[in-house]
Amino acid sequence: MAAGRSGNPDAVTIGPVGDDDVAAMLDIINRAAEAYRGVIPADRWHEPYMPAAELAAELADGVIFSGARIDGVLAGVMGVQRRKNVDLIRHAYVLPDRQGQGIGASLLRHLCQGRERPVLIGTWQAAAWAVRFYERHGFAILAADDAARLLQTYWSIPERQIATSVVLASQPLSAAEVGALIAGARRN
Ligand SMILES: CC(C)(COP(=O)(O)OP(=O)(O)OC[C@H]1O[C@@H](n2cnc3c(N)ncnc32)[C@H](O)[C@@H]1OP(=O)(O)O)[C@@H](O)C(=O)NCCC(=O)NCCS
Repeated sequence: MAAGRSGNPDAVTIGPVGDDDVAAMLDIINRAAEAYRGVIPADRWHEPYMPAAELAAELADGVIFSGARIDGVLAGVMGVQRRKNVDLIRHAYVLPDRQGQGIGASLLRHLCQGRERPVLIGTWQAAAWAVRFYERHGFAILAADDAARLLQTYWSIPERQIATSVVLASQPLSAAEVGALIAGARRN
């Protein structure tokens, strides 16, 4: 249960999403991504922020989304992707009028539960609210050099996005630990 802004409790359930949810997922992602407008570097902003073909490509590339439903209606999504020797949290979005009610927290807890490999999250450096959100849930922001090496190893994103992103990890990682992780990924 999550307290709505009105103070009324709404029934929130976390669970899998299916093919029937794709249109609602795109709607949530693109409405929530409005938060980036004017915040992330202008050359990285485009509309829609996530075109349908990009979401389809992410699903085909192994991003597994979970959804948060309020009275059965999808209000938030978050994905997880196994990459080599780590798990990545990908694409965290909650409908703007449902943000700040604990839905993101529930999704993050659900996705991180029982994971033994390091969990990494990449986000825009300028998205200070997202960085704070993950830090409040125990994630540690990594040094810029280490973040760049990790982004090159585990993500498929352009150099420009690497330069304007940060990486948070489920446990603090020293430069040596990042090096060991990347060496392990190469053997994977
Ligand atoms: C980041 C995001 C997924 C978090 O989901 P959420 O449901 O808002 O998360 P929660 O409600 O669990 O936590 C948000 C925190 O901000 C606070 N908050 C208060 N008002 C808020 C508001 N209007 N909007 C967002 N957060 C608010 C909450 O109290 C909470 O703080 P706490 O953890 O100290 O309690 C969501 O805000 C979002 O979609 N943002 C835009 C897109 C984005 O930045 N995605 C991240 C990409 S990596």
